[in-house]
Amino acid sequence: QRQRFFSTNLLAWYDVHKRDLPWRRNKNPYYIWISEIMLQQTRVDTVIPYWHRFIEKFPTIEALADAPEDEVLKAWEGLGYYSRARNLQSAVREVMETYGGIVPDTKPEISGLKGVGPYTAGAILSIAYNKPEPAVDGNVMRVLSRYFLIEEDIMKGSTRAYMESLIYQLIPEGRAGDFNQALMELGAMVCTPKSPHCLTCPVMEQCAGRLEGMEESLPVKTKA
Ligand code: ADE
Repeated sequence: QRQRFFSTNLLAWYDVHKRDLPWRRNKNPYYIWISEIMLQQTRVDTVIPYWHRFIEKFPTIEALADAPEDEVLKAWEGLGYYSRARNLQSAVREVMETYGGIVPDTKPEISGLKGVGPYTAGAILSIAYNKPEPAVDGNVMRVLSRYFLIEEDIMKGSTRAYMESLIYQLIPEGRAGDFNQALMELGAMVCTPKSPHCLTCPVMEQCAGRLEGMEESLPVKTKA
């Protein structure tokens, strides 16, 4: 019942409060993919103009696959972590060669692409294809560790696996993409690392971490 309360109230909150981000306007898997790669090490505000320019310059998978690498790196200039751009281009070339230019919609296929780890795979499958797959990043782990009072170290693979299994149970029928984005959004806007904004949180009443006064000491994270 704590689970049911969470899913229902989180999604209702998201429907009202979600930010109007450019990659939320269209479910083109290529657009979603670019956004998720850019967002991995870079803040939303910084990513927005880069995302627009990148899509304008390389509007399709084919355009990106055919572009000279130095042009792609130039479009990435300022975002840093250039291996993301190189991996992305290798991956779209693979999509052209192996999948006829269509981003695959199964976990094993999409996870085989360069630079696409479990988080990115889950994000693309759920947001673009609405497949019920978890997309667990740091924001999501913080939200879940607090709400469900999970005191395991989030650096451990077993903790991530546990959270993924929880998300499979939490995803509301037919709304995987919105649910995963709602989790990210709550972590970014409300359930922030320091002093979470519990008074504006849609699931505060049933938050185990809050009820135990633990919200500021979760998640448990050892130094990497
Ligand atoms: N961070 C990672 N993915 C995101 C998304 N789809 N929307 C907002 N922030 C994000």
